[in-house]
Amino acid sequence: MCGIVGYIGRRDVAPLLLEGLQRLEYRGYDSAGLVITGPKAAGLKMVKAKGRVRDLEARVPKRFAGTTGIAHTRWATHGAPSDENAHPHLDPENRVAVVHNGIIDNAAELRAKLGADGVVFASETDTEVLTHLIARSEADTLEEKVRQTLKLIEGTYGIAVMHADFADRIVVARNGSPVVLGIGEKEMFVASDVAALVTHTRQVVTLDDGEMATLKADDFRTYTTEGSRTTATPTTVEWEAESYDMGGHDTYMHKEICEQPDAVDRVLRGRIDDRFSTVHLGGLNLDAREARSIRRVKILGCGTSYHAGLIGAGLIESLARIPADAEPASEFRYRNPVVDPDTLYVAVSQSGETYDVLAAVQELKRKGARVLGVVNVVGSAIAREADGGTYVHAGPEVCVVSTKCFTNTVVAFALLALHLGRIRDLSVSDGKRIIEGLRRLPAQISEILTMEDEIKKLAKEYADAKSMMFIGRVRGYPVALEASLKLKEISYIHAEAYPASELKHGPLALIEPALPTVAIVPDDDLLEKNRAALEEIKARSGRILAVAHQEQEKADHTIVVPKNEDELDAILMGIPLQLLAYHTALELGRDIDKPRNLAKSVTVE
Ligand code: G6P
Repeated sequence: MCGIVGYIGRRDVAPLLLEGLQRLEYRGYDSAGLVITGPKAAGLKMVKAKGRVRDLEARVPKRFAGTTGIAHTRWATHGAPSDENAHPHLDPENRVAVVHNGIIDNAAELRAKLGADGVVFASETDTEVLTHLIARSEADTLEEKVRQTLKLIEGTYGIAVMHADFADRIVVARNGSPVVLGIGEKEMFVASDVAALVTHTRQVVTLDDGEMATLKADDFRTYTTEGSRTTATPTTVEWEAESYDMGGHDTYMHKEICEQPDAVDRVLRGRIDDRFSTVHLGGLNLDAREARSIRRVKILGCGTSYHAGLIGAGLIESLARIPADAEPASEFRYRNPVVDPDTLYVAVSQSGETYDVLAAVQELKRKGARVLGVVNVVGSAIAREADGGTYVHAGPEVCVVSTKCFTNTVVAFALLALHLGRIRDLSVSDGKRIIEGLRRLPAQISEILTMEDEIKKLAKEYADAKSMMFIGRVRGYPVALEASLKLKEISYIHAEAYPASELKHGPLALIEPALPTVAIVPDDDLLEKNRAALEEIKARSGRILAVAHQEQEKADHTIVVPKNEDELDAILMGIPLQLLAYHTALELGRDIDKPRNLAKSVTVE
């Protein structure tokens, strides 16, 4: 959702801003805009366009010189996608420009007050109130004008501000929406996501909530919204600029599916301790005594991360024998949850930015709970807010729908479960067995990826379905949930997932030849039960595609995947179904990396 890019230096700014915006396209947006100024530019010059960054680019005049600018991709919240509602927003005298991520909760009230004072609004956005308030401030400096304005604001923001009378600087501020400074040589960058910075600099400073910064071409300073200076030491971003490229694949999704063997290898690297048949997770901040006193684990996440959490809960229950469950963070935070001091809370998020997860973490911390983060983006809000945790090291994930991050998150949960298990009652031999299983995963994932042609053929066969059913039992059920989500997100085919055991309690009524079922059928203690479900479907002439460890007689097709340890099979069984969703969506001509109506990071409620 919404992205910010800014630059101040000596280079021609418009192409830099457009390139930065392109790097943020993956987050999802519906309009874009930029504003620039420079020594030779008289005042602020702005261009905006509904649609894609390329529509904006087409509108940028040939002569559009400037060396300072801010730009934005907008995801509509207040007001429909349109040229007028796109950011930046300018005051009527074209002196102040603001780009904003987040939501201003008291915008309606502020708009009414400003309206009563004769202010005429050019857009329906909440952001525009910031522009007017900054323009009307009588403070002497831009920093003070912004600070005074922020005092009047309730809500979340990451903002970047330019002012024609203070053309040597960009002022930025953060509260709940990421702002990252990129430190260059006689040039400074700002963005809401490192993706927009890494081609230029890997030295970054991530602002904290309540922090502001002034960027000048050869210098920056950070301070609180109250005005006191803060220390900001740049850190180096791990991810290379190339990790954001398509690397010869037609889509990011395909690239990210294919990266999974390497990604899993990375999450395991340096963590396995063969001597004690356990793993080291350096960032948990949880000593053995504390780990032993946990009586329950509650995992919170949204979308795919919630599904990874469901598998994680199963792993923790089976390996560490601690009662565990997962719940959508969005539901949890609204039900006034009972926060229990003996429960370990785990927040899961690829981006580390999802608002509902962040808000749940903040609510939990306010109530004194201990919260761990299982996060992909280093230094992201959830990672910073948590008491400790583990990074999943999947590398940047650009496609809106998650694949490699899901897999790595589940593997990270297997590591956490093993760690907790070995502190408690998991035997050395079971620890060793799981470690060996984990080590087999990258090669087994590679083996599954070689089945792509076969899966592509199956996708052609099932792409005409109007609806699909996904079933699994116990460990297989979250696999079914995630596979069903993946299919609906990118192919727009209606899909639903059910525990196989629940079939006869309702969904069996739907079964007929036109409704194919994808069944997760691992070779474990539930094999016969799962086979019985296939019988039930076949008896109603339903078509069946099984993902199993051996051919299933009742299925019309079986994708046979390599067997791992029972506890780890779920990690592998979802992978062919990522490819199935991918090829089905291709077959239907969908925009795979940017499915309609979805955003990569949902940073608002
Ligand atoms: C959005 C994305 C989903 C993702 C979810 C959680 O809804 O479209 O693909 O699973 O957010 O994102 P997170 O970054 O917290 O894992």
